[in-house]
Amino acid sequence: MDLIVKRANANSLKTQCAVVFALDNTLQSSAQLIDKEANGTLSHILESKALKNKAGSHCWVHLAPNKKRAYEHVLLVSLGQAEKKSKSSISSKDYISSIQSGLKALKGSHIKNAAVYLDQVNLSDTDNSPSTIAQLFATEAKRVDYKYATTKASDKDSSKLEKLTLVVDDAKQVNDAKKGLKLGQALGNGINTTRELGNLPGNICTPEYLANQAKKLATSSTKLTTKVLTEKQIEKLGMGAFLSVAKGSAQDGKLIIMEYRGGAKTAKPNVIVGKGITFDTGGISLKPGPAMDEMKFDMCGAASVMGVMTALVELQASVNVVAIIAAAENMPSGRASKPGDVVTSMSGQTIEILNTDAEGRLVLCDALTYAERYKPKSVVDIATLTGACVVALGNHATGLFSNDQALADKLLASGEKMHDRAWQMPLWDEYQKQLDSNFADMANIGGPQAGSVTAACFLSRFTKKYPWAHLDIAGTAWVQGGAKGATGRPVALLLDYLLNA
Ligand code: BES
Ligand code: MN
Ligand code: ZN
Repeated sequence: MDLIVKRANANSLKTQCAVVFALDNTLQSSAQLIDKEANGTLSHILESKALKNKAGSHCWVHLAPNKKRAYEHVLLVSLGQAEKKSKSSISSKDYISSIQSGLKALKGSHIKNAAVYLDQVNLSDTDNSPSTIAQLFATEAKRVDYKYATTKASDKDSSKLEKLTLVVDDAKQVNDAKKGLKLGQALGNGINTTRELGNLPGNICTPEYLANQAKKLATSSTKLTTKVLTEKQIEKLGMGAFLSVAKGSAQDGKLIIMEYRGGAKTAKPNVIVGKGITFDTGGISLKPGPAMDEMKFDMCGAASVMGVMTALVELQASVNVVAIIAAAENMPSGRASKPGDVVTSMSGQTIEILNTDAEGRLVLCDALTYAERYKPKSVVDIATLTGACVVALGNHATGLFSNDQALADKLLASGEKMHDRAWQMPLWDEYQKQLDSNFADMANIGGPQAGSVTAACFLSRFTKKYPWAHLDIAGTAWVQGGAKGATGRPVALLLDYLLNA
């Protein structure tokens, strides 16, 4: 689907379908113009209560051909009730769900070419610039445009929608709207990159596959370079923890490093580190069978890192960001780690592996030590790290842990703003002793209590040299059930943070 911005009057645009809005049962300005052309059909729909006053309700109107206008179809979308505090405002959350349902209706129709009129809406929790509105539209359009089809040919996208024009009525707004469109589109493409990588099965999306995707991305921008370290090189670096996971698999583990330099040469980079376990069987501490297929999503941290880098490249953003992906497959085998094994991490600290299923922290701790060489401004790791985080926060919030409150606050704010929220969890010293081991500097598990906290405590022992935050996305990276699939979270949070850090 192509997205463009145009200035036009509601009735003059050459389009098959006009998408317009009603707020609190009142037609927005473009809808009023179209209503006039259509002899009051839209007002009649509102009067007759055929359109519910609920965000996302919508109604198709098919008009008889008329030489005065190109469109014969109108999609009237309800923005729902105005907020009590101000008569004409709605939350951006309601606005987004209205847009989403309108776009889904368009995608499900025979329409090839539609125009959406971006009337002045009053969003209560964000600025109402054409840029913000166009950004929201573009991201949602991209989101609706994605459908997994790589290994399911019979289900290839059957939608006809080729072109969506965002229409503003004031020439002064065009450039602003174009800016928003560009950002929203890049974010949407980043989110979809993350979803596609997450959804790909473990036999396709291997560590090597991830490495090749990272190399491919680098060929599309002179600002980006990709380096891939093999298991042999990982061993040479002394990454005994990483290796203890990778060695159980026939797939070679990879440390993937992407350096994006768009900012000042001297500016320190912000680093993002993704957990890239392309399949997590649990290893010798084998997971139970039911729903084990979902452990193909155990590389969603890495996928979100790829999504963010894709967006930065598309934007040619003026920032310095280094991305590190720790990619490996966690398998049981004759070469796999066993409970009780002790390994030495790149930091020199020794680790007793009491459970081979706590593998994420083992690959991440060495990647986090590797990050030190960049003297980073900040390091954020993203990982489907613990089932305990899902127990604590469910599917709505990403778990956030940090050794630096200013960094935590920035990430929390980006999450709020982008509707991709995180919730801060404690990283108190009191929890650290749960990691005590009789045979090494630490154990890799901390017992049944506060599992997401002790996992973060483990990582904190490798991140003392820089401001660091850990995002546990075990509950937010994918959805289960009928709509099983990767969500693309937390790309929106991360991109907003990195563009403004
Ligand atoms: N990848 C899993 C975490 C996970 C489990 C995410 C279920 C989403 C849903 C991770 O590697 C893991 O297995 N963690 C263990 C840690 C435990 C052994 C201390 C867990 O959460 O059970
Ligand atoms: Mn595991
Ligand atoms: Zn895992």
